[in-house]
Amino acid sequence: MWNFQPSVNLVKGGAGYVGGPTMAVIADHCPNLQITVDDSNRDNIKQWNSPSIKNLPFFETGLEEIILRVRNKNLYFSSNVNETIINSDMIFLCVNTSKKNKGFGVGQASDLKWVESCARQVSSYSKGHTFVIEKSTLPVRTAESIKTILNSSNLVEKNHKTFSVLSNPEFLSEGPAINDFNKPDRVLIGVEEKKPIEALENIILKWIPNQKIIKTNLWSIELSKLTANAFLAQRISSINSIAEFCKSTGGNMGEVVNAIGTDQRIGADFLSACLGFRGSCFKKDISNLVCLSIHFVLSEVAEYWNCVIKLNEWQKLRISKLIVHNLFGTLRGKSITILGFAFKANTNDTIQSAAIDISKNLLEEGANLIIHDPKVSEDQIFSELAIKLRKLKNIQDSNTYKGAGIKENNLNKSFVNVYEILILTEWGIYKKINWKTVEKIIRKRCWFFDIRSIVDLKEIKNTNLNFWKIGDGIIKS
Ligand code: UGA
Repeated sequence: MWNFQPSVNLVKGGAGYVGGPTMAVIADHCPNLQITVDDSNRDNIKQWNSPSIKNLPFFETGLEEIILRVRNKNLYFSSNVNETIINSDMIFLCVNTSKKNKGFGVGQASDLKWVESCARQVSSYSKGHTFVIEKSTLPVRTAESIKTILNSSNLVEKNHKTFSVLSNPEFLSEGPAINDFNKPDRVLIGVEEKKPIEALENIILKWIPNQKIIKTNLWSIELSKLTANAFLAQRISSINSIAEFCKSTGGNMGEVVNAIGTDQRIGADFLSACLGFRGSCFKKDISNLVCLSIHFVLSEVAEYWNCVIKLNEWQKLRISKLIVHNLFGTLRGKSITILGFAFKANTNDTIQSAAIDISKNLLEEGANLIIHDPKVSEDQIFSELAIKLRKLKNIQDSNTYKGAGIKENNLNKSFVNVYEILILTEWGIYKKINWKTVEKIIRKRCWFFDIRSIVDLKEIKNTNLNFWKIGDGIIKS
């Protein structure tokens, strides 16, 4: 029986959406384990250790309560990565894998520099036998590279170090992450040899029944994670393509979604038409599949998955154009309210959020943006939209004709005198807006774009608003 002291090793920017909540939940279920979450980014660790629970680096429902229960009891946050490795029996790699921004495979292949540097650190500083667990979504056969790197240090043979590499990908989605992790549909564990599975399995069994644990070889697991995300993303691109001609053929989007979603073989999830899928996962994972297809000289397969991404980009562009078109092709000096900046509701993550692209397009056309989001900070919005905007705050730049933007925390104030209102994130508070009241402070015949399809038509019917809804097009003008 091994005496585990698992530790999660997060290198640069990794103490985030997978590592933080995952280790917090494990610590909560396994009080006998001592867990350290490491990140070389000191600011990040400072936030995790902040005495004020409101300063955690990101918002996730239920996370604060867990952190209050386990922090400094059996869960620690540290930036002393090497020391943590020395003291760990089990190391979870939850590192960042963005796409390569230069060199071969630029824009498509995953950049594995953090995985590699992390594996090298483990190779140098570990002691005895160490379980290394892939948690990040990685290209297929990354575990093989990790193994090679782990065994490459001169100290390995000299100090009799050994390693078992396992894959245990995360299926949690941001927002309901804690719930996803507590009650997953299934847990996947991939390994080359049978024995090391027990080590991880014994931890997971503390709160997940045995029948939910699926064990396969490493490569099936790596491929399954990519495939799951690719299938979900493909559904969104498919429904977005149908949304485009629903109205013109006389179909009703809600009725079509209900009709096909109630077919058990298809199911109701991931059928909400929208600006397209955003976030850090789907595009990256489909790009990984494209790379894999190219590697195996399957150009048709590469083209197929590439189309899912292309359709996603097309959706964003077509809606940006529509927003401009409805204000007579010019936005110069016109105020537009943007409701929601996060990539989806219940998270403050803005990574690849559609709001960034839409805002940039509208600013380019000279619009004044009034941006509201309940969880995304002003600093975050301005850094996503480029630093220059900070200087332009509230001022129209007459030389470049570029628009300006402000973050407005008061929802009612964000509607004063505006020409257009766009819902870009499906936050609950936007569902409760009283449009009769809003009507009094907006401009007459203001356009309202419900790009998340969350507003009840009945609420809009008796107002002066021109109304456009995703999938249904112009409903009222
Ligand atoms: C996704 C997967 O859902 C998780 O299972 C997976 O673990 C995670 O990626 C990952 O690989 O780490 P996440 O990116 O947090 O999770 O968010 P989703 O809820 O899947 O949403 C992704 C995007 O699709 C969002 O922009 C969302 O607004 C959009 N979406 C989702 C739609 O446009 N329509 C839908 O019906 C559902």
